[in-house]
Amino acid sequence: MLETATKLNELVTKAFTNAGVPLEHAEIVSDHLVASNLAGHDSHGVMRIVQYLAAVKSGEINPTTRPSVLSDSPSGASLAGNRAFGQIAGHDCMALAIEKAREMGVAAVTVSNCYHSGRIGTYAEQAAAAGMIGIILVNAGGGGQWVAPFGGAAGRLGTNPIAIGAPSGGKYPIVLDIATAVAPEGKVRDYRNRQKEVPAGWILDHQGRPTTNPNDLYEPAPGGSLQPLGGSAGYKGFGLSVMIDILAGGLSGAGCCRAEEVAASDGITMLAIKIENFAAAGSYYDQVKALVEHLKSCPPAPGFQEVFVPGEHEFLRREQRLAEGIEVDDVTWTALTESA
Ligand SMILES: NC(=O)c1ccc[n+]([C@@H]2O[C@H](COP(=O)([O-])OP(=O)(O)OC[C@H]3O[C@@H](n4cnc5c(N)ncnc54)[C@H](O)[C@@H]3O)[C@@H](O)[C@H]2O)c1
Repeated sequence: MLETATKLNELVTKAFTNAGVPLEHAEIVSDHLVASNLAGHDSHGVMRIVQYLAAVKSGEINPTTRPSVLSDSPSGASLAGNRAFGQIAGHDCMALAIEKAREMGVAAVTVSNCYHSGRIGTYAEQAAAAGMIGIILVNAGGGGQWVAPFGGAAGRLGTNPIAIGAPSGGKYPIVLDIATAVAPEGKVRDYRNRQKEVPAGWILDHQGRPTTNPNDLYEPAPGGSLQPLGGSAGYKGFGLSVMIDILAGGLSGAGCCRAEEVAASDGITMLAIKIENFAAAGSYYDQVKALVEHLKSCPPAPGFQEVFVPGEHEFLRREQRLAEGIEVDDVTWTALTESA
């Protein structure tokens, strides 16, 4: 089903309010999900409605709450997520980091114990829209251990994503937004739903053998594992993931990965950096503009049409989907129309 972003937003908001989510919260989560579809990341878009409504019903999400402050200082804060929607916790976390960075130049805010934080590039865009650089690090509090360490044959880490957003002065901010696994688990689920093989190098089966069958990630128990980002240099993605586990899980209090795997509950650390405290704004924007022009001037390698900078794909996809609509899979569409 092809639908406009506006109509999808209305439906998702209605589905949430029908499930007892306050309108203000329903709108924040709905905006985030539809924006993820617009950016081209369907795995973190409205297809999550089925999972989130089930989590509201089971009590994994407390739909009426927002994070509360555990500790506070001029340059940072630690928030309790209170099982809030991750999108609301993430939004509040970055909003507070931005507010503090306006005064202090740099601020760091953490959240523990919130539900799935969604497409974390959204919070990088939030910082960039405020004219700041934003850094976002997320773990699942010791849950979702899909990813094998480099050289390992079984899951020990979450997909531990990182996003960094920087305003560019151009049409879109520069936003890197990636899992530190070669792919998030949701993408393997998507391949499995479509009965397609995953690309080589993504997963190992339960005996540590490379496979392209997406089912091998899930069965037989305890399932296989995702590879860390980086292929033959996967120790780099692995190292990044370990440090994110410490920074997001250890600092926030959500918890790092450990022997006892727990239910996923996101731990988040966000930083906001006020550019003017470090560089004259004019100089910063001139440098970033020159960098982008320099990269875009690179001749394409065989098989490529052009060089893209981080965040450009999402910008282009957003323009396209705003004009042409968003394709929603049948399972999600049925669930959405039945709930709205
Ligand atoms: N909340 C969570 O727990 C969680 C966990 C894992 C992943 N995620 C989300 O999953 C989404 C997908 O993650 P992913 O690792 O599959 O990302 P991906 O492989 O789609 O990479 C996206 C990043 O790469 C850039 N990019 C894409 N193609 C490019 C190209 N040709 N040239 C230059 N840059 C390019 C994009 O601009 C973006 O910054 C992200 O939005 C992430 O936030 C969330």
